[in-house]
Amino acid sequence: MEKFSGFRVKKINENVKTTVEKIEHTDLSEGDVLIKIAYSSVNYKDSLAIRQDGGVIRHYPMIPGIDLSGTILTTKDDRFQEGQNVLVTGYCLGVTHTGGFAEIARVPGDWVVPLPNGLSLKEAMVFGTAGFTAALCIQALENQGLATNKESKILISGASGGVGSLALAMLKKRGYKNIIALSRKKSAIPSLKNIGATEVLLIDEFMPEKIKPLAKQTIDFAIDTVGGDICSLLLSQLNYGGSIAICGNAAGIKLNTTVLPFILRNVTLLGIDSVNVPMHKRLAIWQRLATDLNVSSHELVNEITLQELTQTLDQLQAGTHIGRTIVKIS
Ligand SMILES: NC(=O)c1ccc[n+]([C@@H]2O[C@H](COP(=O)([O-])OP(=O)(O)OC[C@H]3O[C@@H](n4cnc5c(N)ncnc54)[C@H](OP(=O)(O)O)[C@@H]3O)[C@@H](O)[C@H]2O)c1
Repeated sequence: MEKFSGFRVKKINENVKTTVEKIEHTDLSEGDVLIKIAYSSVNYKDSLAIRQDGGVIRHYPMIPGIDLSGTILTTKDDRFQEGQNVLVTGYCLGVTHTGGFAEIARVPGDWVVPLPNGLSLKEAMVFGTAGFTAALCIQALENQGLATNKESKILISGASGGVGSLALAMLKKRGYKNIIALSRKKSAIPSLKNIGATEVLLIDEFMPEKIKPLAKQTIDFAIDTVGGDICSLLLSQLNYGGSIAICGNAAGIKLNTTVLPFILRNVTLLGIDSVNVPMHKRLAIWQRLATDLNVSSHELVNEITLQELTQTLDQLQAGTHIGRTIVKIS
């Protein structure tokens, strides 16, 4: 079988190196479905995958890339057929199983999602794990009552990132009227307003010197993509009965809070995982991404090739990247 191109992470003398090189089919992890990849996308977790201390990849060499969309070349799983357009996100893809930053992937059939009607292979990767996670956060908050009041005050942290910017656009599309973007980037204010924020707060001005467990109540709901002190502060500012959907940890894993917001203000902290979502829920969320949460014409999308990946992954690590970057593979 012919060799194909892929982006690999290797460990050489304890240093992690990345290269785009020719790969053999025998280098791919096992699976029933062989996919010709059309697009992949870049997520924060991929930026950790090429870092020495990132904690994402344990066995080298590895093809990272936690997302892919493409067309089935061959399948031993009779739920699928040759020529079918599909997507895969999460599970072990790009972590312990060779991932989406290559022309071909081989994956277990249990991970494969048929491309929903209404989405192209490219649009599916405008969403990728970031959009899937943003939709999971919105679904979780809507289950908590968000949908009952379109005037609710909703704050999104890490607003210029992949999850954050897509969540903003989705909330706007759903008709919410008070969407507050929290960002570190002054330069991103015009774009954040353009995609859906009705107000933009800058972290430097928002963070107090000391975080107290209870502060003035100002927001009804939040999607927190950064964690750490930001999440702790948001918990202290939630209105009675409010909820936060938390999915990220770019700003840290420790929470500086007490039981007080929970037992005095009846607030809820909802954990969001996108990796091991059961298939029935996965299909339902992708259905929403193709319909009522479809913001695939999102403005903050950049397209690159495998050769440009390292530079983009470095920008994500440095926190200077804006919006979504998709990777055109073939
Ligand atoms: N639980 C899950 O299954 C799941 C799925 C997807 C993503 N995630 C997590 O969600 C987060 C966002 O992912 P993403 O792919 O959207 O990443 P991204 O595109 O890199 O966006 C992250 C954003 O967070 C802010 N940020 C970055 N570093 C920060 C820091 N040190 N302190 C404060 N804010 C910081 C920046 O936004 P501003 O400059 O605008 O503040 C940045 O654009 C990541 O932590 C990721 O690991 C989790």
